[in-house]
Amino acid sequence: MTPLDEQDEHVRLFRSAVLRFYSRHRRDLPWRRSQDAYHILVSEVMLQQTQVNRVIPKYERFLARFPTVHVLASARLRDVVRAWIGLGYNSRGLRLWRCAKIIAQRHGGVVPDDVEQLRALPGIGTYTACAIASFAYGKPHPAIDTNVRRVLSRVLFGRDSVSAAVLRRAAARVFPARAARRWCQALMDVAALHCRSSPRCEGCPALMTCRFAPKVARALPRRPSGSAAPRKAAFAGSPRFFRGRIIRILSGVGSMPVARLLSEAKDGSPKAEGARIASLVDDLRREGLLRIDRRRRRVWLP
Ligand code: ADE
Repeated sequence: MTPLDEQDEHVRLFRSAVLRFYSRHRRDLPWRRSQDAYHILVSEVMLQQTQVNRVIPKYERFLARFPTVHVLASARLRDVVRAWIGLGYNSRGLRLWRCAKIIAQRHGGVVPDDVEQLRALPGIGTYTACAIASFAYGKPHPAIDTNVRRVLSRVLFGRDSVSAAVLRRAAARVFPARAARRWCQALMDVAALHCRSSPRCEGCPALMTCRFAPKVARALPRRPSGSAAPRKAAFAGSPRFFRGRIIRILSGVGSMPVARLLSEAKDGSPKAEGARIASLVDDLRREGLLRIDRRRRRVWLP
């Protein structure tokens, strides 16, 4: 075999082991039961900063409430923001709602299948655009998130990470066009079940072809089996913590005096937090997540 043949053989073995693993052991996630691009769009926006287990119930409830792009596009923002509570980073809900409006108005209600058109939508970056194009439409665009990046860097280069450009070229080289819908989701499962930051090589489908596996020390510290990664809660007192609290308070009322919102949001926090909270309320107003009538000093979710 020439070195080039060896490389091809390495890639072929890697691909087929990963795809076989996916058909036998893939995680049964609700968005994988659908090829509806709107469903994939909703799931991918939710998954941008929230863990799979927290997304599942929210995704199902969100689609029951907003089953189509048109329903979401004509919903009130306050209802969308309310449905987003628990996922964190509420501005994603706002951007998803704006996406739906653009898709309804400019794309006839059909989520685009073109990566550039997708990237032009609010809140849709390269990863999410590629995920929608490949998972929903089977287009050959590798969706490379941090987890996929880790798997490919380890298996192909024997390193925890390589430069974005090198990885992009390698990801394109190993991408199996005939399995565009499954490939990156399969790598996500390899990442979630085996190729975690602290690797669990036993049973990993990529083990035989992985250039990193020989370097993995046998006695790497592991979390006891069955215990999940700690949930990344908003750190009490952080901007994310207060933003979530402000939205939650407003979602229970029609409108309320600004002063009352500030005092309820501050509840239990040191006095000095007042000014910070007021500035976060103003950030949320600027982002379009809440409205303030300065004359009447009242605030509400639009
Ligand atoms: N994270 C982002 N997209 C995902 C998907 N389709 N499956 C599992 N985890 C994901």
